Amino acid sequence: MLRGTRNPHVPFVHSGSCVPCTLHLTFLATFLFKLLNLHTAELYPTMHAPLPTPSPEAAQHSVRLCESIRRDIAGQGGWISFARYMELALYAPGLGYYTAGAHKFGEAGDFITAPELSPLFGRTLARQMAQIMACSAPHILELGAGSGKLAADLLGELERVGSLPDSYAILEVSADLRARQQTLLQERLPHLLERVHWLDTLPEKFSGAIVANEVLDALPVHLVHWRDSALAERGVALNPDNPLDYPCIVGARPACESRPGAAPTGHLGSNGYEHGFVWQEHSIANAALLHAAQQINVPGDYVSEICLAARGLVSSLAGCLGQGALLFIDYGFGAREFYHPQRSSGTLMCHYRHHAHGDPFFLPGLQDITAHVNFTDIAECGIDAGLELLGYTSQAFFLLNCGITELMKDTPPENLRDYLPLSAQLQKLTSPAEMGELFKVMALARGIAEPLCGFARGDLLRTL
Ligand SMILES: C[S@@+](CC[C@H](N)C(=O)[O-])C[C@H]1O[C@@H](n2cnc3c(N)ncnc32)[C@H](O)[C@@H]1O
Repeated sequence: MLRGTRNPHVPFVHSGSCVPCTLHLTFLATFLFKLLNLHTAELYPTMHAPLPTPSPEAAQHSVRLCESIRRDIAGQGGWISFARYMELALYAPGLGYYTAGAHKFGEAGDFITAPELSPLFGRTLARQMAQIMACSAPHILELGAGSGKLAADLLGELERVGSLPDSYAILEVSADLRARQQTLLQERLPHLLERVHWLDTLPEKFSGAIVANEVLDALPVHLVHWRDSALAERGVALNPDNPLDYPCIVGARPACESRPGAAPTGHLGSNGYEHGFVWQEHSIANAALLHAAQQINVPGDYVSEICLAARGLVSSLAGCLGQGALLFIDYGFGAREFYHPQRSSGTLMCHYRHHAHGDPFFLPGLQDITAHVNFTDIAECGIDAGLELLGYTSQAFFLLNCGITELMKDTPPENLRDYLPLSAQLQKLTSPAEMGELFKVMALARGIAEPLCGFARGDLLRTL
């Protein structure tokens, strides 16, 4: 399952862009490919089926993380913000979803990202990276490199077209993923490994091309409840009826009571799955959060996310960028769509073994938790920090502008064995029904005079 592509409790509001008809033939080929392969599970994913039961070791791992989160809550007086809960669930050292050894990416994991889906993604993106480097400096910085696949595809293609960067830095918060990235690059491009290095923090100064694919959506978010008369922050407390000295995890199924849009005093579902957490709302003590929440105009009784961490990251990146551009690729929309009246329970989503659901308390440590990106917020932070907004478009237009269909020409259609899977991947990357429209690309830059090739058509700046 692609991250961010389905949210069972949130009505989808289309932004209205469309993909040029040059892709119709490819879509037809994809349709035939799907018919031949009959990937029925992928075509008709089950939304309400019980989720796969974790192995005893995985369940134990989740129990250890739950215990650690409960200690954190107790240590902070019985309540933590949802951002703190998400930070622990995803990044608690050695226990969090991204920091422990969960498989995460690909068919055997919980979700698929664009670089995992197809080498076409990285190869196409390489053209934009090459242009940015040509206008600034021959260096790349990738944030949150996941399995390392994007780094390998980018470097491979840049070598092929004679635009290799002098250095490729990866800033990765997960030691486990960092080790995986090193192994993959060692296997695929041992001769280029000397150009690659890993960072623990952002460099003081960097010039060149920066890319972050599906990183903003993995940053912890605060939850805010707008009511007619008051604002509240929705956070996580211990369940007073069930202190859970012995957490139990049986018959895994997410509890609809635990969705952030559900009642704040939610209790455990009757599904046999327990974690000991409940939603609890407090008045907003965090000044930055309160200020941000007051600027947002939504109808009464509305719950949604504000990502202060994304603001911090964009400001830090702006602080270190000398000359060059940074590209954010992620699912999300402008503020108007993000806080659309119909999206009254927010965009939070969880992924567990290719099932999407809305319960962030489900098996902490074993599932991904994510929220859509508010690109208006990202643009404003970048501009406030002195960057120029060079472009904003859909992933479909970005990839087409960068020449993804030309890359397809390297594989003759008569070579069905290679051509059909590639055309299926192209369709997933660009189709409005898959990643093409929901995923966006934003470029923020300093000292780049040339228009960027990826934004030549399909401008969406008006939607911010
Ligand atoms: C959903 S994964 C995406 C991985 C990869 N970019 C891809 O597209 O397959 C999110 C990645 O962001 C990393 N990450 C999360 N917070 C980060 C931060 N503050 N700085 C850098 N990386 C971060 C995670 O460890 C993980 O590698």
